[in-house]
Formats: sequence, C-alpha cells, structure tokens
Amino acid sequence: MNPLFKRFLKSPFQVASIVPSSKALIRRVSEKMDFAHPRVIAEFGPGEGCHTREIVSRMHPESKLLLFELDDELSLHLKKQFEADNRVSVLNTDCANLPHELDRHGHLHCDYVVSGIPFSILEKKKKQEILENTFRVLSPEPHAAFIIYQVTNELHSNGHCDHFAKAESEYCLRNLPPMFVTKFYKQHNGDHSPRSKNGRVERHSSGRKH
Ligand SMILES: C[S@@+](CC[C@H](N)C(=O)[O-])C[C@H]1O[C@@H](n2cnc3c(N)ncnc32)[C@H](O)[C@@H]1O
Repeated sequence: MNPLFKRFLKSPFQVASIVPSSKALIRRVSEKMDFAHPRVIAEFGPGEGCHTREIVSRMHPESKLLLFELDDELSLHLKKQFEADNRVSVLNTDCANLPHELDRHGHLHCDYVVSGIPFSILEKKKKQEILENTFRVLSPEPHAAFIIYQVTNELHSNGHCDHFAKAESEYCLRNLPPMFVTKFYKQHNGDHSPRSKNGRVERHSSGRKH
C-alpha cells in the first residue's frame, strides 16, 4: 500500500492526499529552482518523498536539504530512503519550526522553501506563523523563493502572502487533482520562472517594499 494512503487513513486532515504528486507536477516544481549552486532548501510536508527524490537528484553536491514532516511513520520512511545522503536531514517536526531548525543546523538563510502541506485547512494563526517565518528566513537574494503546490491558489488570491514582493502562478493540469504552482519571491527583482507550455502563467506584484 502506498505509504501516503496508509497515513491519510490515520490523519486525513494533516495528510490531505491519498496519492503522491505526479511526475509532471514534480518536474514543474523542481524547474522553479536553480540547482547550479550550493543551496539551502527546506521542504514542508514531503510525505513519502516524491518531490524530495527529484530535488536530491538535481541538487548541487554542497547543497543541504531540510525535510519537515509531521507524520512519524512518513518521517521514518524518509530517514531510511535518505540515510546514505548527508546533505539531507529529516526533521519529524512542524514546519513552523523552520527558523529554529535552520539555526540549529548552522544556516543563516534558506534559498528555497518548497511546500506541499495543506495550507487551506490550517487555522489562520498557524498559517500566518508559517508564512511569516518562511519570509523572514529566506535569503535576501533575487533567486530566493517560497514555492507551493496546492489545489486552490488561496495563499495568493486571499492575500496571505502579500508580504512577499512578487508572485508567479501557473496551473498544472497533469496531476490528480490539478494544482496551482505558485512561486513567491522575497525581492522585487526576483528571477522569472520559464513560461509553462501547458499551464497558465500570471504575474502579480504586491507593490510592497522590503
Ligand atoms: C498532501 S501531503 C503531500 C505529500 C507529498 N509532498 C506529495 O507531493 O505527494 C501533505 C504532507 O504534509 C505533512 N504536513 C502537514 N502539516 C504539516 C506541518 N505543519 N509541518 C510538517 N509537515 C506537515 C503531512 O503529514 C503530509 O505528509
């Protein structure tokens, strides 16, 4: 049985998905990162590790990847998969602890934060805490970004991420269910993602200065 489905049966509101992301979605998300240089990357809610495997296969030998997974069994599953790779740390903890964990691992900033957690069903206070922490620890460089894949685009459309300088969204139809992939930049001069052949791309600037 797929480990995500098994854990969904135990905690449906936390896991929120019965099948891992499709190859097309995984590729879309990974293509939003520049792996040519050493990076510090955090992944929220890796589940059974489908995005993680792609990131690990692409990332620079001197990069570091911190995985935040709340579910105990999925965390163990991830630990076994990546035990031979000392670039990867599996943290069986809430992703709201990102600043503390970065500090504990000796990193000042993150270059990318990739998230698959079900933001739309989180309570408002938790959502704000995670989004504010993420913004705070992102590197102040143009490439640095928070990348999410979600069924709804509510973080973007409801203004939850207006503290980010700029956002780009596209819709990935080749996933069950289809998902929005949104990249939020910390800086106004943030990099541009390549335009998708199969999805919608829209650009938005919150107009705020940071
Ligand atoms: C929809 S699944 C995504 C799984 C995988 N990333 C994929 O694309 O198939 C969401 C995952 O986020 C985890 N999760 C939910 N809330 C979390 C939180 N606050 N911190 C860390 N992980 C969380 C769940 O345990 C679950 O494994």
